[in-house]
Amino acid sequence: RMVMKKSKTIGVLVPDITNPFFSTLVRGIEGVLYRENFVTMLCNADLDTKKETDYLEELSRRGVDGYIIASSAISNQAINDSLRKKNLPYIVLDQKKAEGYSDAVLTDDLSGGKLAGEHLNQLGHQKVAVVLPENATENIQTRLTGFQKIYPNAVLVHAELSKDGGRQAAKEIVKADVTAIFAINDELAFGLYLGLADVEKRIPQDYSVIGYDNIDMCEYVTPQLTTIAQPIYELGQTTANLLLERVEQPEKNWEEKTLPVQLIKRFSTARLK
Ligand code: RIB
Repeated sequence: RMVMKKSKTIGVLVPDITNPFFSTLVRGIEGVLYRENFVTMLCNADLDTKKETDYLEELSRRGVDGYIIASSAISNQAINDSLRKKNLPYIVLDQKKAEGYSDAVLTDDLSGGKLAGEHLNQLGHQKVAVVLPENATENIQTRLTGFQKIYPNAVLVHAELSKDGGRQAAKEIVKADVTAIFAINDELAFGLYLGLADVEKRIPQDYSVIGYDNIDMCEYVTPQLTTIAQPIYELGQTTANLLLERVEQPEKNWEEKTLPVQLIKRFSTARLK
C-alpha cells in the first residue's frame, strides 16, 4: 500500500476507555494502523462534548491524516466545521451515527436485540426488563427495537451505561414483576450481578440475565454471562482498513459495512421454573 501523507497519524475518539469494549476496539484499529506505519492517537471523550470538540480541533491542528469517531458526543456541527468543510477523511462507528457524508461500519444491532429476545422467549420468560441509558445512542436504540419485536411490553429500566449503572438498576428491577433482564451491554450486566447480590437475589435462579458485546470478562464471572457477541476486534480492523482506503482514495464512493452478531449461550440464563 502506497500512502504519501504528512503525519502518518490517525485520531481515534472513543466515549469511555474504561469499558473493555473500547479497548478491544482500539486494539483492532491500532493493529492495522501499526502494520501500515501509522500512529494511533487516542482521545477519550468521557461523554463530554466540550472535550470532544477540543480534541477534534487539536487533532486537526496537528495535521492528522484521518479520524475514527466512535463517540456520539461529537456533534454533526463540529464534524461539519472541523472535518467535512476541510475535506478531512473520517469514519464513524458504534455510538456515532452515520449521516451519509462518510464511510461507516455498523454491527447488526437489530438482529442482536432480536436474538436476545428470542433466547429469553425460548426459555419461557414472559415478563422481562431491559436496562439501558435514558438517552440511548442510535445503535443502542436499534438494539432495543429488535428486542421489542419479541417483547413489545418489556419494562424499561434506565441506567448510566456502566457497571455502577447496572448495580443501581438492580434496585428498580426487584420492584418490577419480571423474571429475565436484557442488559444493553455487558458492563451493565456485571453491575447487575453485584446489585442483585446486594439484595440476595441469584442469577439465574431468580433472574436470567443476558448481556451484549461479549467482552472477555463474560467468561470470568460466575455464572458465566450469556450475551450477544459483537465482533469487536474485527470491527476495529474493518474500520481502520476502510479509513486508510479513504486516505488513499479521497474521491471514491462512500461505503457502509455491517458486521454480524451472534448469541453466545452461557450460564446466566435458564428456563423459567
Ligand atoms: O459497551 C459499550 C457499548 O456501547 C457497546 O454495546 C457498544 O456497542 C457501544 O455502543
